Amino acid sequence: MTARSSPIIIAHRGASGYAPENTVASFDKALELGFPDIEFDIRASKDGIAVVIHDATVDRTTSAGTVLSASGPHPVQSLMLAELKALDAGAWFGPDFAGQRLPTLEELFDRYRERARFWVEVKEAGRGLEVKLAALMARHGLRERCAALSFEPVVIQELAHVARGRFPVGLLVVRLDEEAIEQAAHLGADGIYPFIASLTPELAQAVRARGLRLGTAGVETEEQVALALRCGVDGFVHNYPDVARAQVQRLRGDASPDK
Ligand code: G3P
Ligand code: CA
Repeated sequence: MTARSSPIIIAHRGASGYAPENTVASFDKALELGFPDIEFDIRASKDGIAVVIHDATVDRTTSAGTVLSASGPHPVQSLMLAELKALDAGAWFGPDFAGQRLPTLEELFDRYRERARFWVEVKEAGRGLEVKLAALMARHGLRERCAALSFEPVVIQELAHVARGRFPVGLLVVRLDEEAIEQAAHLGADGIYPFIASLTPELAQAVRARGLRLGTAGVETEEQVALALRCGVDGFVHNYPDVARAQVQRLRGDASPDK
């Protein structure tokens, strides 16, 4: 009987089912639950600092409506780091999390450098984030603990250029097909990360045949975890990583090695 390796379960925006996404509270929670692989999103502030936030505007996940002005939206790129740091990034999720701040990329590298592996999604093109990310990884000695992801082909191309094989680069796609696989390889990505809805065992095989690693996003249900396992993904992101782990264990335990 050969041992089957389990996919890496990556805490999506931290353990974002339990704590406000992309905050220290959500990353601490992921580590506390035993998940050192943390995914998060970066954008550039007006003064060019890589800040950890998912949306292009601060309105959904911060107190911008009261601190800045009620008339949003407030784009991240229109605010200086000091203005972003003045926002509460936790109270929207629950009173226990009031006082959480938007972290910078460097703060996360500093805080978790010995304990985490970093899956950094670059959300914006044309802001120099690829070079900043690579430089911070190098300065903190973290190339071997980082992967860089993006939906933006131009970002992937730039990341592949600055990485030169020293850290993995993955193309995120909403829909997986042969064209997307070719595009990932052509851009110089090491892997492709489609949303689970478009993943099939046949396409997973095509990804591997092209020499790419395979991950998946958007996994929420046990059926989707089962599909990810059938497709042999290397990893997937999940808002409740502990729930996903229990499902993986149950599904693995249920499957006879002869099936
Ligand atoms: O890791 C991929 C996943 O995070 C992409 O979707 O919208 O959550 O950034 P999103
Ligand atoms: Ca993301």
